[in-house]
Amino acid sequence: IRVIVCEDSDAASRTTADLIADQLRERPQSVLGLATGGTPLKTYENLIELHRDGQISFAEATSFNLDEYVGLSGDHPQSYRSFMNQTLFSKVDIAPERTHVPDGLASDVPAHCTAYEDSIQSHGGIDLQLLGIGHNGHIAFNEPGSSVDSRTRRVDLTDDTIEKNARFFDSPDEVPREAITMGIATILQAKKIVLLAIGSGKTAAIKSMLFGEVTDEVPASFLRQHVGVTVVLDAAAADGLF
Ligand code: F6R
Repeated sequence: IRVIVCEDSDAASRTTADLIADQLRERPQSVLGLATGGTPLKTYENLIELHRDGQISFAEATSFNLDEYVGLSGDHPQSYRSFMNQTLFSKVDIAPERTHVPDGLASDVPAHCTAYEDSIQSHGGIDLQLLGIGHNGHIAFNEPGSSVDSRTRRVDLTDDTIEKNARFFDSPDEVPREAITMGIATILQAKKIVLLAIGSGKTAAIKSMLFGEVTDEVPASFLRQHVGVTVVLDAAAADGLF
């Protein structure tokens, strides 16, 4: 795993955006795996700026998001589809029909998950997957206990994750209890992976991921089985690790 430590969150976000921009310049038809949450917000702002400056285009790119809450429609303000439309897709030149986010209202969830996997494959696989990391070491919504062989599926969110994500909802009761998430095996099939972590709250998870046992108790530790992973940290997330 290549680790890049940046002086602050702005620099870490800029570095992450540059890695994605390089990918798009190298291969304009890239298939990007994208994440939601607080972590990538500034990275997406940087990508929007690079696009406005004429330095990158998403016109030929395709995207697949990691996850979506079960029970929320794409136009629910807290759905990950809305998040992506607002924070990135509506502000760059990506074709809406080439953006993919699991459907939280799918009537047949297993069939939808299989179709999502098939769609990733039929687009040639993910070239670059952007990840955040949960305090508990989750990647996407692969919570502790998720198997290395896991694929896109319906999962229960842990109480910890529900509590952390409650900040985006009016009350914790409104946070969905289930999600559809790409699996660990889905993520490990990406050609390149960039994991961004910001802030001291992520240090313990980063430490376990990089230096602990490779175990399903820390889903992010499975990234050590992949040769193309770059971890970008701000100084707070890296504090005391190196
Ligand atoms: C988001 C996702 C999650 C987040 C993680 C960190 O699509 O799959 O794994 O990356 O929960 O969330 P933030 O960035 O809000 O700290």
